[in-house]
Formats: sequence, structure tokens, C-alpha cells
Amino acid sequence: MKVAVLVSGNGTNLQALIDAQASGALAPAELCCVISNRPDAFALQRAQKANIAADVVDHKAFADRTAFETELIAALERHSAEAVVLAGFMRILTEGFVTRFRHRIINTHPALCPAFPGIHAPQQAIDYGVRLTGCTVHFVDAGVDTGPIIFQESTPVGPADDASSLHQRIRALEHRLLPRAVQLLANGRLSLDGRHVVIATD
Ligand code: GAR
Repeated sequence: MKVAVLVSGNGTNLQALIDAQASGALAPAELCCVISNRPDAFALQRAQKANIAADVVDHKAFADRTAFETELIAALERHSAEAVVLAGFMRILTEGFVTRFRHRIINTHPALCPAFPGIHAPQQAIDYGVRLTGCTVHFVDAGVDTGPIIFQESTPVGPADDASSLHQRIRALEHRLLPRAVQLLANGRLSLDGRHVVIATD
């Protein structure tokens, strides 16, 4: 299964996928391209270093979301992508995009969904005063961080935590869970029963 990775920033989750591929832990998934909506994303350099095709589809160059997504889909089709991973991709995708890759888009979110959707989840967890937060790896639907949940794992929030220290611990969870979810998808082991994800085991 050819898997595209959409990014906007540093790309440590992309790196986890690249490392998983190098160690054979992603097959039969194969990373076919990395697409960033930001030309300066460090994730693009990670892709180049790993010899993975890296493209930019800059959302600022398009009049509206539909035009941006039309080009994004065209870029994904040029790379024959069959599934899409959002790895720190900070744009909301509309129904049209989600329909094109239905049940083949996986996102990782740095909170225990449905808590703290959006772009500042670790800071929101601290501000709220929760004792536990974590990460959620989920299928993408047309909502913001609302799709069916594949994996969740938690981490405590300590009194000394700030958004950065907390996000660092959450990232470590994501780096383990995201490649596992991608491999399960490629192996055909993830199915949906309503909004429940069924994971087929041996
Ligand atoms: C990740 O923690 C991911 O969950 C989060 O951005 C970070 C990207 O880190 N995504 C969101 O907040 C989306 N709602 P990375 O660039 O180092 O992989």
C-alpha cells in the first residue's frame, strides 16, 4: 500500500515512519511521498534525506480550501497514494478530501480525543488542569480530530510540565503508535463497525 505523509512542521512523526520503514516495521506499507503545505517545514528535509519524494502544496497560493485540496489530491494521485497519514499537518481537510480517501486517512493528535481538538492540545491540557492526557491515532472524518479511534495512550501531567515538556512525552507515544496503525491499515487489519475500529489479530 502506497502511503503519503502530509506534514506542516518538524516531522518527528514522519521520522518515526521513515525509521519504521527502514527496519521493516511498516511493510506492506510503503512511503511514496511527503507533502507539506509549508515550504519551510523541516519535515521536507527528513524526506529528502530518506530519498522519499517531497512536494510543497502551499495553501497560501490558493484562493480557497477547495482549490488547495484539489491540488493536494492531484499531487497525491501523481504519486499513486492509496492512503494518507497526517503527521503534524495543520490544515483542516473538508468532506471532499475525506471522501476521496475514505477510511484511508490516519491522523495523530496530541490529546485523548474527544478532549482538546485543534492545534494547541498540550497547552489546553495544562490550562484545563487535567491529570492525564496522551495521544490519539484515529481515522479522519470531516470533523476536527473526531474520527474513529485506532489507538490511544496516556501520560500523566505533572506540576512541573509546560506545553513543551508535555508535548515531548506525547510525541514519544505517537512515534510508537502511528507506525503500528499504518502497518495494520496496510495489512487490512483495521475495519469499522460504526465508529468503532476493529483490529484483527492473529
Ligand atoms: C504531533 O504531536 C501531532 O500530534 C500534532 O502536531 C505534532 C507534530 O509533530 N498534530 C496536531 O496537533 C494536529 N491537531 P511533528 O512535526 O514533530 O511530527
